[in-house]
This record gives sequence, structure tokens and C-alpha cells, in this order.
Amino acid sequence: LVGLPASLTGKIKGSFAYNTIKDRLPLILTRVIDTLHRHKHEFFEEHGEKGIEAEKKAIGYLSKLRNELQTDKPLIALNDNLPDTPLWNQYLEYHKNVSNEPPSWFQSPWLYTECYLYRRIHEAVIQSPPISNYDVFKEEKNHAFFESQQAMISLSSCLQEMLKNTDGLDEKRLKEEFCNLIQVSLWGNKCDLSISAGADNSQKSDPLQSVEELKKFILVDHVEKLWSLLINKKKNKTPTRLDIVLDNAGFELITDLVLADFLISSELVTEINFHGKSIPWYVSDTTKHDLDWTIGQMKAANHKWMARCGVSWEGYLKKGVWIYHDHMFWTLPHEFSSMAEIAPDLYTELQKSSLIIFKGDLNYRKLTGDRKWEFTVPFHQALNNFQPAPLCSLRTLKSDTQVGLKPGQGEQLMNIDPEWMITGKYGIIQFDATS
Ligand code: F6P
Ligand code: MG
Repeated sequence: LVGLPASLTGKIKGSFAYNTIKDRLPLILTRVIDTLHRHKHEFFEEHGEKGIEAEKKAIGYLSKLRNELQTDKPLIALNDNLPDTPLWNQYLEYHKNVSNEPPSWFQSPWLYTECYLYRRIHEAVIQSPPISNYDVFKEEKNHAFFESQQAMISLSSCLQEMLKNTDGLDEKRLKEEFCNLIQVSLWGNKCDLSISAGADNSQKSDPLQSVEELKKFILVDHVEKLWSLLINKKKNKTPTRLDIVLDNAGFELITDLVLADFLISSELVTEINFHGKSIPWYVSDTTKHDLDWTIGQMKAANHKWMARCGVSWEGYLKKGVWIYHDHMFWTLPHEFSSMAEIAPDLYTELQKSSLIIFKGDLNYRKLTGDRKWEFTVPFHQALNNFQPAPLCSLRTLKSDTQVGLKPGQGEQLMNIDPEWMITGKYGIIQFDATS
């Protein structure tokens, strides 16, 4: 890794990484313990005494984990013999060798330790049969969905209104609708439950109405480049495959599916591949179960246009116009520049895409390697040879990395709002094409 800037870590007191490890992660663990405790009766009803024993076992493991984290103990090897276990342990060994000291919560790369925490939570549950399949974040994700009901009604109604006219829309109108929905999907990323440590962070206002007033908070806006790519393909009648690397369930997922529906209906793309997580991750990240549950809720909603969305989305999946994938790489701690080596099958799959949209902050951290880049370093350079296909990040800023800014832009933002990088107030639509 010679020539690359250092990884972000929790070494510096007061840094966002430090505060996350010190305050937010223990809080997330406490909430997980509390959730298991509150569902004790459910486990008993389903599995009898064995359910209660499993709950106790998982809680014991998680309390120990919280203690390791709070006292900055060395990170220990995983012990659950899952297909990804050796990769985690190799990575641990590697960092041990690089730094000549045992990796620990605050000293090791933040990207690794934070991902490691979620993987250890998974280990706690997986090693506690018969509750091994329990999603400890399910309750928070479901709650967030119901809390954004009003915003979902507005958005699905607007979508159905747009879809009535897509055939007759001239290019200018089509472009306008596209730009609006891209921005709605961008701002949907504010609603993640890891930044709020699981507390309610749902969308309350009408998302399309906010687009205009939020424009000034978009720091890098490459929406024109996205549009040119898609409209040129449509004009040439080339089949266009879009890949969306999903982030959070709840309102953000609805914004992604609304965008996806619009792109298919307007024939701007011909096929969409969604990529989700195979285990519960960063509190609100989307799993296959979350996607199915969400579509089921939409179908059953007591609102005509929400239900219409649910029916169409299920139809797209059945017809194979939409395809859902998960891959263990998305829940490894590796930056994306190592995908070709660690997960060559996934890299080859993504190479088939015409455009890959990466949603959210964690994906951006992995795209750029979670390093101390200068703000003005080109996005292409920070990608460090990760270029399976043209790609775009739709992300609200919730961590200490940002590249591709104009000279002086970062410094100016720092003066206006010292917290500009960590609150989700600002966003980017950042594009890179191989050639
Ligand atoms: O816990 C901090 C963090 O890693 C931040 O980078 C970000 O706020 C969050 O978790 C995940 O955000 P997202 O859901 O947008 O990937
Ligand atoms: Mg997330």
C-alpha cells in the first residue's frame, strides 16, 4: 500500500472515528442486548427453554464484546467457521504484521474495526442456536419503515403520476424527472440508523418538495454525466444494465426502488441488479429479507399508490427485470480496490454493468479506502484501480473522507460548518468512468 495515504483510525481523540468507537458502537451493542432481552418471551414461545438459554448465551457473548471494545482490547480471531471466517482472520493477521502491535479497536483501521464489530454481533447470534437466524436490527428497521409512511405515500403517488406519462414525455421532462429522483435517492441516505445509533432517523417531510432547497448542499454534482450515459444508450437502443449497491432499508430503500421503477418504465435502463447484504449490517443495511418484507408491506398498504408500487416491484422481480444478489464481499472489511483479488466472481459480474450506483456512506468509505485523502484528489485516483464499469456514488457525508472537491472548497466548508463531513447534511453525486 505504498504511496497511499494512511487509513483513518480512532487514534486521535475527538476525531469522528474516535467518537464512533468510543460512544456510538457501545450504544449500538447495548441496544442489541436490550432487543434480545425484550424478545425473550418470543424465543421461549418458539423454542421453549432452549430459546431462553440461547438468548442468555448471545447476551453473555455481546456483553463480553462490549467490554473488549470499551477497554480497547486486542481484536481476537473469529471462531465460527463460516465461509468468510478465514478471510477475516487473515486480514487480522495482516494488520498485526503491518503495525507490529496487536490490532485493537482504537489503533487499527477504523473501517476494519467497525465492520468487525458487526461481524462479531453476527457471530454471537449464529453461535446461539436455535435463534441463529434472528436479525437483531429487524425491529429498528421495521420501525423506521413505519415512521416514514407519509413520505412514502407522497413519493409513491408522485411516481405513479409520472408513470402515467412516461411514454409521452419529451426528453427535457424525462431528464427533469430523472434528476429529481436521483436526488431523492441521494437524500434518502440521510435516514441511516447507524449514524443515530439506532434511534429514529426517518424521513418526515415530502421528499420531492425538498429537492430544490437541498440542491445547495450537493458538493459534487455529476448528474449530467449520468444522464448523458443513459440517454445515449437509450437513443442507440443498447440494452442497459444498471447495478445498485444498496444501503439502508426503510425510506432510503423506497427511494432506490422508486428510482429503479422509473428507470425501467421510461426504458432508460433494461435490467437492474440490486446488491444487498447477506447478514445484518450497520444497523439498517438491506438484506434479502428486508427487501421482501418491504415489498410485502407496500403491497398490503392501505394506500392505492403504495400498493400499486408493491405489486409492480414484485412483478419486476418475478420477471427478472430486477434481480437481487448478495455476496459475502459486501460484509467483509476490505476496500473495493481489493475486490478483483478477494472476490473475482463479483468483480466479473460488475464488469457486465453499464452503470453501478453505490449508495451511502460506508460504500464511499470502501470505494476510497477510508483514507486521509486531500479533498482535491480526483475521485478516479482514490478509487485506486477499482473500475469494473462506469460508477457513481450517491452519498450523504457521514465520515471523515471526501475527495474530488475544487481547490479551497473543503477549507471554505470547514469555515461555514466545522461538522460538514459527519452530519449527513451535505451530499455528493460523484461519477467516474474508466475511459
Ligand atoms: O458509524 C459511522 C458510519 O460508518 C458512518 O460512516 C456512516 O454514518 C454510517 O456508519 C453508515 O452510513 P451509510 O448507511 O450511509 O453507509
Ligand atoms: Mg447503511
